[in-house]
Amino acid sequence: MHRALASLALLVSSTFLVSAWAQPNHPPNSPPAPFFENVTIWAPPASWSSHSGSYGRSVLLNKDGEQGIPTMLATAAYSPPNGPYFQIFESTDYGQSWTMISKALFDGNSSLTGGRILQPFLYELSEAYGKYPAGTVMLAGNRIPGDSSSTNIQMYASLDKGYTWDGPPNTTNGAPCVWEPFILSYASQLAVYFSDQSDPRYGQKLSHRLSTSTSDLQTWSATLDDVTNTNATLRPGMITIAQIGNGKWMCSYEMGLWPDSAAPYATHYRIADSPFDFLSAPEFELRTDTDGVSSAGPYTVWTPAGGPHGTIVVSDSSYDQLFLNTQNGDPGGWQNVTSGHGVGYTRALTVLPGNGGKLVQVLNGVAGLNAGAPLGMYAGKFTEITVGDFVVPGPEGGISGL
Ligand SMILES: *[C@@H]1O[C@H](CO)[C@@H](O)[C@H](O)[C@H]1NC(C)=O
Ligand SMILES: *[C@@H]1O[C@H](CO)[C@@H](O)[C@H](O)[C@H]1NC(C)=O
Ligand SMILES: *[C@@H]1O[C@H](CO)[C@@H](O)[C@H](O)[C@H]1NC(C)=O
Ligand SMILES: *[C@@H]1O[C@H](CO)[C@@H](O)[C@H](O)[C@H]1NC(C)=O
Ligand SMILES: *[C@@H]1O[C@H](CO)[C@@H](O)[C@H](O)[C@H]1NC(C)=O
Repeated sequence: MHRALASLALLVSSTFLVSAWAQPNHPPNSPPAPFFENVTIWAPPASWSSHSGSYGRSVLLNKDGEQGIPTMLATAAYSPPNGPYFQIFESTDYGQSWTMISKALFDGNSSLTGGRILQPFLYELSEAYGKYPAGTVMLAGNRIPGDSSSTNIQMYASLDKGYTWDGPPNTTNGAPCVWEPFILSYASQLAVYFSDQSDPRYGQKLSHRLSTSTSDLQTWSATLDDVTNTNATLRPGMITIAQIGNGKWMCSYEMGLWPDSAAPYATHYRIADSPFDFLSAPEFELRTDTDGVSSAGPYTVWTPAGGPHGTIVVSDSSYDQLFLNTQNGDPGGWQNVTSGHGVGYTRALTVLPGNGGKLVQVLNGVAGLNAGAPLGMYAGKFTEITVGDFVVPGPEGGISGL
C-alpha cells in the first residue's frame, strides 16, 4: 500500500528531550510464550544461485496496543534472483512456525541497478510520525548496486504489518559509505543509527539522523555523532541499543581493527542517560568472567528477569555463548553462558512476553547441510535462518506485563 523511502539526507534542526522509561512494552494481557529449542524459518531453494545468507533480524509487534499473542516478523540478508529484496516472514505463535508474507523490494532509486540489499533492520513505531501511525512497521536496509559504487541506507514503511511495502518513495539519497542501520524512536524523534564512513576524520564512526512527524519521515537531520575515536584508524560499527534496568541506555558495537588478535572486532559499549548522549559517555570493552573479549556484530537487549536490575543480554558473531550482566552494565559483571544456538553472523535477540522475561529468542543464520565453514557468515555456502529460545538464569522479573 504505502511505501516510504525515507532517505537520510537533509539538515533539520532538532531538540533532544527526555522521555520516560518505555520498554519493553509487551501487551499487558499477552499469554506467556512457550519455550522451544530450535525451528528453521527458511532455507534457500536449490534453484537460487547463491545460498549464502546472514544478518537475521526480527521484531515483536507490541507497541500499538496489540492484543493476544503479538505477531513477530523476521528477515535476513540473502541474494535472491530478481532481487534485491528482503523476504518477510511472519509468526503468530511466538516463533514456533513461520510463513513468508512478502518480499520488500528495494527499488526506490532507479539509478541503483543489480547488486544486493544487506543488513536489514525491522522496527515498529510506538507513536505516529505524520502519515505513519503507531503500529507502522519500518524496514531499513543497505542497498548496494551491482557496480558497488555506493552504499545507501533506505527505509520502507508498511501500514499493514509487513504484507505490503508500496507507495511513492522519496529518492534523495544518503551519505556515501554508510552501513548497518538500527532504528529507535525516542522523545518523539525517529532515529536511524548507522556506521558512517563518510567523515574524513575517522576510518569509521557511529552516527544517527533524526526525523519527526512533521515531515512524514521524509526529511532528516544532519548526521549526529554517537561514537568516535581519537585513534581515527579504529572502526566502530554495528550499533544496537537497549534501555537497561536503571533506566539508562546502553549501546553496544564492534570496534574494527582492534589490536587484539583474539578479538579483532572487540565488542565495546557505552551507557548514557539518553540514546542521544553516547558521544560523551565512557567506553568499556566487553570482557567476560572467563577472561575473553566478545567480538564482532554484538546485539544487546535487556530483560527484567535475573535479579533486581534485570539482565543485559549480548550476542555476538564469534561465539555460541551469550554475555549476561545483572549489574546495570558494570564492566566487571559480564558472565559467559552457553546459548545452545550456534555461531552466526550477528544474531538478533528478542525478549518474549510472559515467564517474567526469562525467555530471550535468538534469531540466527546457521549453516545448513552441505554448508562448509564458516557458519552463518557472509562467506558461508548455505545458510538457513533458524530461531530458538534461551532461558535467562535467575528469578523472574517483576515488571507488569512481563
Ligand atoms: C540514487 O543513488 C545514488 C547513489 O547513492 C545517488 O547518488 C543519487 O542521488 C540517488 N538518486 C536519487 C534520485 O536519489
Ligand atoms: C525528500 O527528502 C529530501 C531530503 O530529506 C527532502 O529535501 C525533500 O523535500 C523530500 N521530498 C519530498 C517529496 O518529501
Ligand atoms: C590505532 O589503531 C591501530 C589499529 O588497531 C593500531 O595499529 C595503532 O597502534 C593505534 N594507534 C595508537 C596511537 O594507539
Ligand atoms: C566463553 O566461554 C567459552 C567456553 O568456555 C570459551 O570458549 C570462550 O572463549 C568464552 N568467550 C568469551 C568472550 O569469554
Ligand atoms: C537448529 O536446526 C538447524 C537446522 O536443522 C541445525 O543446523 C542446527 O544445528 C540446530 N541448532 C541447534 C542448537 O539445535
